[in-house]
Amino acid sequence: MNPQDLLKLAVTVAEEAAALIVERRRGTITVADTKSTITDVVTAVDRESEELIRARVLQARPDDSFLGEEGDDVVGTSGVRWVVDPIDGTVNYLYDHPTYAVSIAVEVDGTTVAGVVVDAPKGEVFTATLGGGAFLDGKPIKSSDCSELAKALVGTGFGYDPARRQVQADVISHLIAKVRDIRRIGVGAIDLCYVACGRLDAVYERGLNPWDYGAGALIASEAGARVGGLHGEPVSPEMSIAAAPGLFGPFHDLLAEANPLRA
Ligand code: IPD
Ligand code: CA
Ligand code: CA
Ligand code: CA
Repeated sequence: MNPQDLLKLAVTVAEEAAALIVERRRGTITVADTKSTITDVVTAVDRESEELIRARVLQARPDDSFLGEEGDDVVGTSGVRWVVDPIDGTVNYLYDHPTYAVSIAVEVDGTTVAGVVVDAPKGEVFTATLGGGAFLDGKPIKSSDCSELAKALVGTGFGYDPARRQVQADVISHLIAKVRDIRRIGVGAIDLCYVACGRLDAVYERGLNPWDYGAGALIASEAGARVGGLHGEPVSPEMSIAAAPGLFGPFHDLLAEANPLRA
């Protein structure tokens, strides 16, 4: 269970899925279903991509566990679990906004040891292994050296629950005058990879799931960013923050002041 071997398989499968979703995007994409709320959409391609990834992974490693956003939850015996977002950024995908990704994290006994995020339309491949550094298209990447809130480009995202979105809007109103600017890219995994390569200085989001942050959090921390939740907690669905190391402290405190966990 060498992390490099797991990463190699993850990259091969993620690139195959990325090619599939880009190819399908040439046709008509429609909403197949809604999930938690009317804004939480799924397309047939989200499901097709997950099926492809599950089939390829379990063909190569039949004893592994597999968790996918679109419902796959296979429990294996090997101690290795694949945590997969088959299209991160489904709303971008639906509207043909050219940023959406395939995200695959590989855990061994509950610790993420390898991760890949493929920005499918751009063909960019972000990778990391635990202790082995982070890479974009095979070249090492590093988070920014920003340490001042006023110079920080900050990414965030919103979940699909209206009450929570109202609080998320309040939080933005607390931050916006104090930072350089805010981006809502629409792809949680890419937000984290952008902190990893310095295209953003910090990101935060309430309500991300393990398939959104699993790979990206490893890539960001291996690139030198500090990654965590609020008040010393680890990253979790409650809150994920990743920031340039010198920015994490002041950014955390500003965010905490806004009391983002109210809903
Ligand atoms: C969503 C995206 C979005 C984030 C949402 C996620 P999906 O994932 O990552 O950027 O703000 O919280 O649910 O549904 O497009 O895979
Ligand atoms: Ca997602
Ligand atoms: Ca998804
Ligand atoms: Ca989704």
